[in-house]
Amino acid sequence: MLRITVCVSGGGTNLQAIIDRIQDGTLRDVEIAEVISNNRGVRALDRAAAASVPGVCVSPSDYPDREAFNDALLAELQRSGCDLVVLAGFLVAIPPQVVRAFPGRIINIHPALIPSFCGKGYYGLKVHERALERGVKITGATVHFVDEDLDSGPILLQKAVAIRDDDTPEILQRRVMEEAEWELLPAAIGLIAQGRVRIEGRRTRILPA
Ligand code: GRF
Repeated sequence: MLRITVCVSGGGTNLQAIIDRIQDGTLRDVEIAEVISNNRGVRALDRAAAASVPGVCVSPSDYPDREAFNDALLAELQRSGCDLVVLAGFLVAIPPQVVRAFPGRIINIHPALIPSFCGKGYYGLKVHERALERGVKITGATVHFVDEDLDSGPILLQKAVAIRDDDTPEILQRRVMEEAEWELLPAAIGLIAQGRVRIEGRRTRILPA
């Protein structure tokens, strides 16, 4: 059984995709140990409660400084007893001590085809605004392992989504979620649960079933 702790900040639609795949039996041998949010009162925590998954808030505003928050986040992740940390719309820079404590055991969903439209300042709707400004014809989503830099760890899964002439950032964000994110994140967790993922330097290899 792969125990995962899912880190969220807001809507929790990626968390919901994981919950739904576990409940419909697509995602087997995976258990959500806990949901951690850096924001209080967000929809993602309601989604956890509705699925009888423990949810906690570890908020920077509860700590005197960033270092104290980072230590508290690490302590909560370790207390949850998870094998894998899943960042699902988590808008917090993962501190180095967390990356070091979970080497090769933190994944993130990014709403673009890394290395495009990623790094500092590229999150949420901003990613889609930049993609539309640049006039790219395809975008998509990426699941990658988290290292000490931003959006730079080994890529595990990617899926392309076509951009349409009449797309707004909001319409594009929704289509990337529906057609890519909500499929890729559960699939990535499933591959890891099946022991089919090898990290080889900056690359990953998926072993046959
Ligand atoms: C989405 O833009 C997603 O691409 C990114 O975080 C945002 C919110 O996701 N990872 P969610 O609805 O909270 O899962």
